[in-house]
Amino acid sequence: MSHKSVLLDVAVDSLNIVPDAWYVDGTYGRGGHSRAILARLNSAGRLLVIDQDPQAIADAKKLSEQEARCVVKQGGFQNVGQWVSELGIKPMGVLLDLGVSSPQLDDAERGFSFLQEGPLDMRMDTTCGLTAAQWLSQVGEVELAKVLKEFGEERYSRRIAAAIIKARKSKAIKTTAQLANIVAQACPSREKGKHPATRTFQAVRIYINQELLVLKEVLAVIARVLAVGGRLVVISFHSLEDRMVKQFVRDFGREVLPPHAPIVGGGKAAVFRALSKPVRPTVEEIDSNPRARSAVLRVAEKVREP
Ligand SMILES: C[S@@+](CC[C@H](N)C(=O)[O-])C[C@H]1O[C@@H](n2cnc3c(N)ncnc32)[C@H](O)[C@@H]1O
Repeated sequence: MSHKSVLLDVAVDSLNIVPDAWYVDGTYGRGGHSRAILARLNSAGRLLVIDQDPQAIADAKKLSEQEARCVVKQGGFQNVGQWVSELGIKPMGVLLDLGVSSPQLDDAERGFSFLQEGPLDMRMDTTCGLTAAQWLSQVGEVELAKVLKEFGEERYSRRIAAAIIKARKSKAIKTTAQLANIVAQACPSREKGKHPATRTFQAVRIYINQELLVLKEVLAVIARVLAVGGRLVVISFHSLEDRMVKQFVRDFGREVLPPHAPIVGGGKAAVFRALSKPVRPTVEEIDSNPRARSAVLRVAEKVREP
């Protein structure tokens, strides 16, 4: 199973690669972006690749067997601070291509897709944490509705939450098809061109993998570990992620003094500077890779230590 990398050239161009420096690909997936970064490094350049998915890591290890410039670490990218300090490096760029990969979505056994019958798992890191089935067996109705609304922007969040709680009383919800059917029956209307369970699956996945929480965590770590002059490139697939990245770049480390503060010209500039407007895929890219549809890329340069 392969993954077609989204915004491949623009992401790697945005890193503005210094050929003999260290780079970090925090979301290896199947290594499309990693290979493109390696192609621009010289023999002194190095790439740290990270993924929390054991299958992605198996693929990365195969690459590193043939590619001595590549160091592989398995786990959440929010741990990048620890790996960077173990290696004693100051990377010149970090890339995050958020969300799930095609191999994860396409493998029915991973439980990410409502289009295929499979166990309701949805963990990217299959070595720990609750599966979606386990969580749905114990979550309260109010919390479930909140997750569906917040992470899925689901307008029928309360109805769907009630339907899930009712259904699980008669039979445990263990498969993707069961969940998709419960949601479809609970929705009074359909969005054009969208399966009614799309938003629910997205919300449960984001919750199970704590995607927004770890994004917030990793951005603060990157502010510390990246070299001054280095680049942060993030590809988001959800408006909440993109908003978080945008606000982080604008505000992290910024201090605005009150208007009557006794210090003239006081306050501190933000740690990052946004380098361009958000970049979206072209119509051609979306045509050839529909999963690129909601992608937004942001690029920023670190201008000072926090
Ligand atoms: C969209 S894919 C990346 C695809 C990759 N850029 C490529 O070209 O093949 C996202 C990958 O990031 C991983 N991932 C998502 N969140 C993560 C996190 N918090 N820590 C580590 N890996 C994560 C997923 O397991 C998945 O393999």
